[in-house]
Amino acid sequence: MIKINKKIDLNKVPAHVAFIMDGNGRWANKRGLHRHFGHRIGYTRVLMAVKRCADIGIKVVSVYAFSTENWNRPKEEVDEIFRIIRENMHKDLDEFQMNGIKVVASGDITKFPKDLYEKLTEIIEKTKNNTRCTLNLCINYGGRDDIVYAANRLNGKKVTEAEFGKLLYNSDLPDLDLVVRTSGEQRVSNFMLWQMAYAEFLFIKPHWPGISEKLVDKCIVDFQKRKRRFGKV
Ligand code: IPE
Ligand code: IPE
Ligand code: MG
Repeated sequence: MIKINKKIDLNKVPAHVAFIMDGNGRWANKRGLHRHFGHRIGYTRVLMAVKRCADIGIKVVSVYAFSTENWNRPKEEVDEIFRIIRENMHKDLDEFQMNGIKVVASGDITKFPKDLYEKLTEIIEKTKNNTRCTLNLCINYGGRDDIVYAANRLNGKKVTEAEFGKLLYNSDLPDLDLVVRTSGEQRVSNFMLWQMAYAEFLFIKPHWPGISEKLVDKCIVDFQKRKRRFGKV
């Protein structure tokens, strides 16, 4: 039996929740460990978080896994992040299938090492018929890159906001309802700039590897207390 926080109104769950998964390095450093270890533990938390969201009834979960700016980190760290994904993807495929999770990617994944790109596309292909929840992996993702990618496909055509939105990565996904950033940093770091127009924000103290089912639940409870107005009175 899955125990979900009783304060969550299951009839009013957000359609699209995102996690800016920050603080892996600080989490590890605080424990006298190498940053790389923080990424390893942080990786395992993605599956936990998406499974929890699916259990709550959230249909779309975006996770910011690697930004277009993260290429500027030391090569060893970038390689380690790729290695972690590469090593764990297969085990996760079974989990995605068992939990009805469809995986999509936002960002130019063709820029990754070939084997990683192939693994990602395999997972996307194999999970494409799952309907319980969508995990949108934002990887080599930048909000500005997303908008420029869309603009480059306009070919000078005049469009409405709705039409422009259809040119973005995974444009079938709804706009963001809730963005959670871990580790206390209060900034968006080039994440889904277009899609967050009316999102609610939660900046929580724990570092990403410290995220738990209880904390995910608490985020939803806090979101449900917000009064959203969308510019109206
Ligand atoms: C988030 O943790 C993971 C990625 C950006 C890939 P960080 O690596 O940014 O950890 P901190 O913020 O340095 O602690
Ligand atoms: C944001 O975290 C990007 C991801 C979580 C993938 P960063 O750690 O890269 O952001 P900044 O540099 O602190 O703004
Ligand atoms: Mg960081």
